[in-house]
Formats: sequence, structure tokens, C-alpha cells
Amino acid sequence: MAGTKKLLRALAGEVQEVPPIWMMRQAGRYLPEYRATREQAGDFLSLCYTPDLAAEVTLQPIRRYGFDAAILFADILLVPQALGADLWFVTGEGPRLSTITRQAEFEALKPVSDIHDTLSPVYETVRILSRELPAETTLIGFAGAPWTVATYMIAGRGTPDQGPAHALRQENVALFEALLGRITAATIEYLSAQIEAGAEVVKIFDSWAGSLKGDAFVKYAVEPCREITQGLKQRHPGIPVIGFPREAGDGYVGFAKATGVDCVALDNSVSPEWAAEHVQVDGCVQGNLASSHMVTGGQALVDETRRIVRAFSKGPHIFNLGHGITPEADPENVQLMIDTVRGR
Ligand code: CP3
Repeated sequence: MAGTKKLLRALAGEVQEVPPIWMMRQAGRYLPEYRATREQAGDFLSLCYTPDLAAEVTLQPIRRYGFDAAILFADILLVPQALGADLWFVTGEGPRLSTITRQAEFEALKPVSDIHDTLSPVYETVRILSRELPAETTLIGFAGAPWTVATYMIAGRGTPDQGPAHALRQENVALFEALLGRITAATIEYLSAQIEAGAEVVKIFDSWAGSLKGDAFVKYAVEPCREITQGLKQRHPGIPVIGFPREAGDGYVGFAKATGVDCVALDNSVSPEWAAEHVQVDGCVQGNLASSHMVTGGQALVDETRRIVRAFSKGPHIFNLGHGITPEADPENVQLMIDTVRGR
């Protein structure tokens, strides 16, 4: 099944001398060609919902760098929008949504079966990409994890400590859990449709998993990820899943076994030597160069890249950053990272 694609081979457990490489947010504002297409689209959401343009920006980093994987261009907040939340982006600030803190607001959401009305352009983007990508490039679909998506739906925006979501969890756990349940069900449908359209791997982004501790981490990060992974594998046997419980710390240990994901993506707050010993023992890992190196470059970038490749060399590994590349990054530093990984 894995064929000759390097990324699929790593996900199947193969140890490779040169790991496959791709980069979170590889289609983004650090690239002049992205900024040009984004301008043509008008705003960010129009770019997400215009299949030709979304496919174009997905392909740009593949043409420029020859990454081993392309990630569908979309956003984790399209799911709340498909469930009926208002969504808009404020330039320089980030996303804004209508909030869900009361039962009546939850009840006004649309049923899961309605999401495809909004999300069908995304599936068309996937179909275009599966035709146009080079034969050796793997296509990754994605969605946000229920906890992370819920933090935006509850607060109506990004929050430094996810305070409003934690508050709802304390004050009205029934409503909080009903919301997570709705997002979980929608995510299974959404990722399933991406797989049917041609996504070869899916990744679940739990960007705020690190603010869940102890039992709450198990209940609201591990459990929904397990439910989604199991639901997808039942419908699409063999589909590889990457989980990203960002800043989970000790929560990374055993995460693959507990959820059934094929690969755990690591942020750069854990050392690669520690993660090789405690996480990679269970299978493939992805990561974990600090994205700040894409801004600063130089010998430190080269040294840290080599250190990560070496630390993970005894098991299956996909090279990546620990989080998304930022707009201030220098495209030449990305090339330096790739050349270092590929030994050129
Ligand atoms: O990785 C990729 O290249 C694929 C596309 C992708 C985007 N967002 C495009 C995007 C993916 C996988 C995401 C995931 C996403 N979106 C996450 C989880 C990963 C993470 O970064 O923690 C989250 C939390 C979001 C929500 C979101 N979208 C925020 C908070 C913002 C604003 C912050 C920012 O960087 O501007 C976005 C906007 C966004 N999503 C941009 C891109 C390229 C920038 C929009 C622009 O072009 O102006």
C-alpha cells in the first residue's frame, strides 16, 4: 500500500536514511507567490473556498522546494463555519467567530449532515490536487481536533490560555461535552470526505492540547482523537493518521497507543533525544525544528537540523517544524533546512 512515496513509507514504520520532509504552514505569507495569489483571491476565506486558487497555493511550495508532502490549503475554522458559526478574519489580529456559551446558541447550530453544503469546495480542491501533484508527493488532508476547535467557538477568537473554554468546562460540562461531541462527529464526516476525494493521510491539529492537564487531557484530547481515528479507519481501512497534541509534554508518551494514530507530531518544547526514547518507541514521529530557525538561519539552523535527524535516525521519522512557519521567515532558510536534511 505504501508504495514508493517516502512519507507513506515512514508512516508504515520504515526507517529511512533520509527522512521525508514537509513543513507546517508551508503555503503561507513568507512566500511572495502566496501573497500574490492571496491578493488575487481578495481575502483569506475566499482563498480557502476557491478550489483553483487553494490548489495553486498548495502546489507553490511543492514547485519551489520539492517537499515530500503537500498539505491541503484550508483552515481548521471552516468546520465551525459549516456548523453555522459566523466566521471572519481581522487583518493583523486573527479569526473572529460568533460565540457558543449558552444552550440556545448550541441548539442553533446546524446538524452534522449539513456540513458538506459549505465544505464541498474543499473536497474539489483535494480532487484537483490529487490529479496535479507529482507522483512522489503525498497529499495530506487535515482538521482541527475538537478541543482546539471548541476553544475558538466558545471564545469567538484565539485566546492565550483558552480561559473561556476552561470556564465553560467548569460551569456547564454538559454543554461543553455536547459541543465537543458535535465537532467530533463533524470532523469524522469532513475527513472522510477528504479521503474519498483523494487525501492519502490526515492530520488532526490539537494546537491547544497543552492547556489540558491530567484527566482532562485524557478526556478531551486523547479520547476525541481516538474516536476520530477509529471512525476513519473503520470506513477507510489503512488510512494513516497523524496526531498533533501540541505542547502535550509527558502527554506525548503513549499517545499513539491510546489513540491509534500512526504518527505523533512533536512541537519543539520536547528534546528530540527524549522523544526518540519515550515517543518514537511506539512508532513514527514527526518534527520538531523550532520555526524561529526559519527566521534566523545560519549555522544554528544547520546544527539543530542535524541533531534532530540524528536523534530520530533509529526509527521512522518525518522531518518538520515544531509549529507553523511564520510570515517573517526567509525562504532561503527553508532551502537550507531541506538541503541539510537531504545531505546536500
Ligand atoms: O499548513 C498549511 O500550509 C495548510 C493550511 C493551514 C492553515 N491553517 C492556513 C492558514 C492549516 C493546516 C491551518 C491550521 C490552523 N488554523 C490551526 C492549527 C495549527 C496551528 O497553527 O496551531 C489553527 C489554530 C488555525 C486557526 C487560524 N487560522 C488562526 C489562529 C489564524 C490567524 C493567525 C495567522 O497566522 O494569521 C489563521 C489564518 C491562516 N490559516 C493563515 C494561513 C495561511 C494566514 C492567513 C492569511 O493569509 O492572512
